[in-house]
Amino acid sequence: MSSRPQLRAGMVGMGMIFDETYRPCFERLHRDGLFERGFGDVDVTLAAVATRTGRRADAYKQRAGDLIHAFDSFSGENAVDELLKTDVNFVCVATPDDRHYEACKKVLEAGKHLLVEKPSVLSLDEWDELVRLARKQNVLAKVVYHKLLDPDHKKLRTLVADGILQHVNNGYCSLLEPKQISGSQFSEWITGRNPGTYVAVHYIKLIDFTFGGRLKAVQASGQRGIIAPADGPTWDSTQLKMIYEYEDGREAAFDIHTSWVMPDNFPGYVEQEVQFRFDNGIWNGHSRKRGVECTVEGKTPFDFKISMNNHYNGTFLEPWGVRSQRGYGIEVIEQFIREIAHLEFGGPVESRNDRMETLRGLAYNDLAADRQVVAAVHAMEVILKEAANGRPNGTVTIDTDGKLTLHVPGVAEPVPVAG
Ligand SMILES: NC(=O)c1ccc[n+]([C@@H]2O[C@H](COP(=O)([O-])OP(=O)(O)OC[C@H]3O[C@@H](n4cnc5c(N)ncnc54)[C@H](O)[C@@H]3O)[C@@H](O)[C@H]2O)c1
Repeated sequence: MSSRPQLRAGMVGMGMIFDETYRPCFERLHRDGLFERGFGDVDVTLAAVATRTGRRADAYKQRAGDLIHAFDSFSGENAVDELLKTDVNFVCVATPDDRHYEACKKVLEAGKHLLVEKPSVLSLDEWDELVRLARKQNVLAKVVYHKLLDPDHKKLRTLVADGILQHVNNGYCSLLEPKQISGSQFSEWITGRNPGTYVAVHYIKLIDFTFGGRLKAVQASGQRGIIAPADGPTWDSTQLKMIYEYEDGREAAFDIHTSWVMPDNFPGYVEQEVQFRFDNGIWNGHSRKRGVECTVEGKTPFDFKISMNNHYNGTFLEPWGVRSQRGYGIEVIEQFIREIAHLEFGGPVESRNDRMETLRGLAYNDLAADRQVVAAVHAMEVILKEAANGRPNGTVTIDTDGKLTLHVPGVAEPVPVAG
């Protein structure tokens, strides 16, 4: 082992997102280390992983060879507990959405820093408990929202922060994925799930983080019948509406439409579109209009997609001759590791708590700043569940104390949800 400061990572879940973003991040850090003048030259190691069967971990180990550190692999029922007995400093959780909470709770109880994929958790009770644990254990708990690092979204936020775009009034976002996502990629855990929680959450966070304000109402509807029976709990597409109120008493409404049943020969892996309307302007963003469309006989759109997001994550031959994989999807993970390096090695031990408070104040990724996003997700989950049980068109209101209440047409009494 080198004499350099060490950060050892644990990884829970090694599916698609591990392969797309964590893997290239850890491989690069394994090769180049992490350097910043403020904390020096730090070794970052993928030290241990936990998965359900261990098969993906074994396959990756074989494939990667010396591109990665020789990590320990744990599988089965107690995989996360076993991982947490090792000397990892931080743990990344990338299991299916409805299995985040269990793993995250264990990570925080073990006193390790946490990075969890979006959506962090699906209910406010779970969120409360994780935020409490992170405080108690004096560790960082952060969520991956890579779209906040998309240069287009950074520009949007900059124009809002600088008062050039003034007072958002309303807007829409859509995020569409092909059937292969629901039909094969996520088939193992799709039952009872919806594409809204999984992808709308990117835009819920973008809206919440960029425009601020208080979330006061959530509505949701959806369609069923393609990936699962039309009277069951599994959704093909969803439409979410959120109402925000700002300090001056004015409101804004946002619609977020999602689907994971677009045709498989759909040109994009994920097609994304946003429009935000302001008192004095309008912002239009479209993943295909900003990007590239490339068709190759016999290859697109199946081996690779026609519209590609080279900003999120791309494999490149750099002009200086080396191969790389880079983009904001990878940058967001490295940024979290930089924050831990800053915390642990960026100054004297006596001022660690000051650094901790500064890092906790970063609303773009801190779990404590995620309440309204989790509230919107929680509300959507409750409304869709009611709809699946024959009581559609519900609304969840959020009062100024943060309490969530469900109102369903035809049901006289509002139902407390959380808070
Ligand atoms: N940031 C993004 O844009 C983005 C994109 C895709 C997925 N995600 C998120 O990443 C997470 C994982 O998605 P994915 O596409 O990688 O899913 P996946 O189904 O491809 O992989 C899930 C992995 O979790 C493991 N796993 C399942 N249950 C486990 C458990 N109880 N303990 C340990 N390991 C377990 C599986 O073995 C598998 O390795 C989800 O929360 C998803 O929302 C984020």
